[in-house]
Amino acid sequence: MNVYYVKLIKKIKKLNNRRLAGLRLYKKAGRVFVRNQSKKLAESAVFLKRFVRQPRQVGSVVPSSPFLTKAMMSKIEWADACCVAELGAGTGVFTRAITSKLKPDGKLFVFEIDPALKSIIETEHPNLAVYGDATELQRIIGRHGVSQLDYVVSSLPFAVLPPRATALILDAVDKCLKPGGKLIAYQYSKHMRNYFEKRFESVTTSFVLCNVPPAFVYECTKKGCAEN
Ligand SMILES: C[S@@+](CC[C@H](N)C(=O)[O-])C[C@H]1O[C@@H](n2cnc3c(N)ncnc32)[C@H](O)[C@@H]1O
Repeated sequence: MNVYYVKLIKKIKKLNNRRLAGLRLYKKAGRVFVRNQSKKLAESAVFLKRFVRQPRQVGSVVPSSPFLTKAMMSKIEWADACCVAELGAGTGVFTRAITSKLKPDGKLFVFEIDPALKSIIETEHPNLAVYGDATELQRIIGRHGVSQLDYVVSSLPFAVLPPRATALILDAVDKCLKPGGKLIAYQYSKHMRNYFEKRFESVTTSFVLCNVPPAFVYECTKKGCAEN
């Protein structure tokens, strides 16, 4: 029997009295992991409830898919990513990916305005400080002695947020990104493209079909050369 299955069986035995229903086994980097699907479902249910309460703030009915997560993460040069902010973390699908890829000495500032969603992330990442409103970005990073960010990863639904909030957040992103730094953001339409083009030196988009709904990934680079 191959080593992978032996490991799988050991893992299943370890589960002992845990219910197997709802548990999914998967392999990553040669190791076997167990993902609790019912936890994932519960998180998605909270996300949907928050959407029903605050549709314009949450902006989507389900968390982003692994395909969108991969597309967003592929825009980041991890070796250069020392200070990163994540805006609109939801249930933390990107937070999970960022924390697994960020250098051990990298700094991550996570923002999620919804208290129920924020507490999901805080439970999963007890050592990570999660902040509220993304309009506070500049003040929060400054409080930690950081003046410039290498990347801002955003899931904020700019197209449906109040225009004043969108402008405030993008002003803060502009002030906090280093020259040549990048805003990586997804949107469900090309509505924001002109707006981004006015603010950034270059804007490129790619399309991710396998997401509900399909999404455009924007890679927006701030004016000026990156310092080496
Ligand atoms: C489309 S959801 C994305 C959630 C998650 N990142 C994902 O991709 O599955 C957008 C999130 O932004 C949050 N949000 C909206 N306005 C915000 C603000 N001003 N500051 C921080 N988070 C905000 C919402 O509560 C929601 O969780």
